[in-house]
Amino acid sequence: MAEKPLLVAKIRNGTIIDHIPAGRALSILRLMGITGKEGFTVAIVMNVESRKLGRKDIIKVEGLELRPEDTDKIALLAPMATINVVKDYAVVEKRKAVPPKIVEGFLRCKNPNCITNQKNEPVKPRFITASYDPLKLVCDYCSLALTFDDIARQLESRP
Ligand code: CTP
Ligand code: ZN
Repeated sequence: MAEKPLLVAKIRNGTIIDHIPAGRALSILRLMGITGKEGFTVAIVMNVESRKLGRKDIIKVEGLELRPEDTDKIALLAPMATINVVKDYAVVEKRKAVPPKIVEGFLRCKNPNCITNQKNEPVKPRFITASYDPLKLVCDYCSLALTFDDIARQLESRP
């Protein structure tokens, strides 16, 4: 079967995040802290056909090598994501995104009485991964659980 032409050219050196649920690419970039001001050449492909996912997004970043902690975070929004490391046009490494064991700082606990939600308490929210599939994070302070949907909702609704 003839290959479909690529929408975006192959990259020479960098990182490709593939198999992102359709429509989530921008949230993933935000989660990774990529704003476009860093100077990397970034290609975002959204809502393309995928055999595995129906539709998917892809992010290609020329010149970026992801640290493991960035890879971890990607799994919070894209549990099926593949992180491809490209060197001299070849994919030299394929990593699965695995959620971090500990998530600190950027998710909120849903319990209004939790110490992490008290105005005058300088306590950073911290969650421990209690289950990977389905994803479940548990607040380290009050034990309230966040499901994958809770996490996605929070990360997708941030201004
Ligand atoms: N890619 C790219 N530039 C390169 C090499 C690969 O943009 N120099 C892209 C491909 O277009 C594809 C992704 O990186 O979107 C993964 O490449 P590859 O591993 O060759 O594709 P598959 O085998 O289809 O990947 P998978 O098995 O993970 O679906
Ligand atoms: Zn809590």
